[in-house]
Amino acid sequence: MIDLRSDTLTQPTPAMREAIARAVVGDEQKREDPTVNELERRGAEFLGQEESVFLPTATMANQIALQILSRPGDALLVEQHAHIMLSELGGPAAHSGLLTIGLHGTRGRFSPDQVVAEIRDRTSVHVAPTRLVTIENTHNSAGGRVWPLEEVDAIVATCREHHLAAHLDGARLVNAAITCGVDSARIGRGFDTVTLCFSKGLGCPLGALIAGSHELMDQARRGKHFFGGAMRQAGIVAAACLYALDHHVERIADDHARARRLAEGLADAGVTVDLEQVETNFVQVDVGPDRAGAIGRLKEQGVLVSTTVHPSVVRAVTHLDISDDDIETAVEAIPRALTRTAALRAR
Ligand SMILES: Cc1ncc(COP(=O)(O)O)c(C=O)c1O
Repeated sequence: MIDLRSDTLTQPTPAMREAIARAVVGDEQKREDPTVNELERRGAEFLGQEESVFLPTATMANQIALQILSRPGDALLVEQHAHIMLSELGGPAAHSGLLTIGLHGTRGRFSPDQVVAEIRDRTSVHVAPTRLVTIENTHNSAGGRVWPLEEVDAIVATCREHHLAAHLDGARLVNAAITCGVDSARIGRGFDTVTLCFSKGLGCPLGALIAGSHELMDQARRGKHFFGGAMRQAGIVAAACLYALDHHVERIADDHARARRLAEGLADAGVTVDLEQVETNFVQVDVGPDRAGAIGRLKEQGVLVSTTVHPSVVRAVTHLDISDDDIETAVEAIPRALTRTAALRAR
C-alpha cells in the first residue's frame, strides 16, 4: 500500500530509534530531563521566541496558547476551516470560555480588514471583546497552503495596532518556511505564541512545542500541568524531536517536490487536480460525487488517500515514508482507479 492519507503516519527511522535509545532522561516535571531541556532551548531559537515548552500534541499546544492569551468571555478570530475551529472538539469554548468567530478564508487566509471588521466595542458590557487572532500556516484544510510573508506580517501588525494577541498554529510551520525560503523563526517571531508539531513532516512519533516570551511560557508550564501534559522521562520522545531538527527539516523540500510530481503526473493523465493549490506536501484531487466509492477503488489499486472538508475532494499527502518510486506508482494507479470511477459514474 502507498499510504498518502497523512504525514502523521510516518514510522520513526532506524537512526531516530537509535537516538531515542541513547537519550539521557530525567524527571521532566522537575525540569531535570536534559534532553527535554535541550529541545526547549533549541525549539525557542528555531521558532524565533524567548522560550518554548515541550508538549505531547499540537492540539494541547493550541489550547494552552488560547487559554494563556485570553479570559473567559473573550472572542477569538480564526479562519472558519482551521484545525482549531473544526478538529479540536470546541476546545476554545470548553477550556477557555471563548466565543470563536470563524472568518471566511481564501486559501486558508484572511485579511487585516476582516480582523478589523470583527473588533468589538471593548467598553460594552454586552459584547464579547475580541481578544486574539489565530492563523494556521500551512493551512491544513485549504490543502497545505502557505501564508505569504507579507500577509503574515500584515496580520501581526494589525494585531499589534489593535491590542489583539496573535497565535500561530504552525503545526506544519516547517513546510511553510521551506516554501517561503526562510527559517521558521522568520515566520514565528512576530507572534505572541507559536505551535510546532513534530509528528507531521518532521517524522517523529509524537511531540509538539509551544513558544513565546518567558512570561507567557511560565503560564504555559502551568497550563501544561493543568491539561495533564506534564510528563516524566519525556526525553525518550524529545530525543526524536532533536534528531528531527538536525536531520528532517531540509528534507521536507523532497516531500514538496514529490507532491508536485504527483500533481503534475495526475493532471497529465486527466485527473482533476488544481496545480495552483500544491504549495507544500498536499495534493487535492476532485473525485466527483461518489467520494467513498473512489476511495475504495483507489485502495483496490494500492493507494490510500483521505477525505477533506470539501465533499468531492480527497487528499494525498507526501511524507518521510513516501519515495520517488511510490510517487511514480501512484501516478499510474490513481488515474486507473479514477477512470473506473468516472466510467461507473457515466453508466
Ligand atoms: C494545523 C493543525 N494544527 C494542529 C493539529 C493537531 O496536531 P496533534 O494531532 O499533534 O494534536 C493538526 C493535526 O493534524 C493540524 O493539522
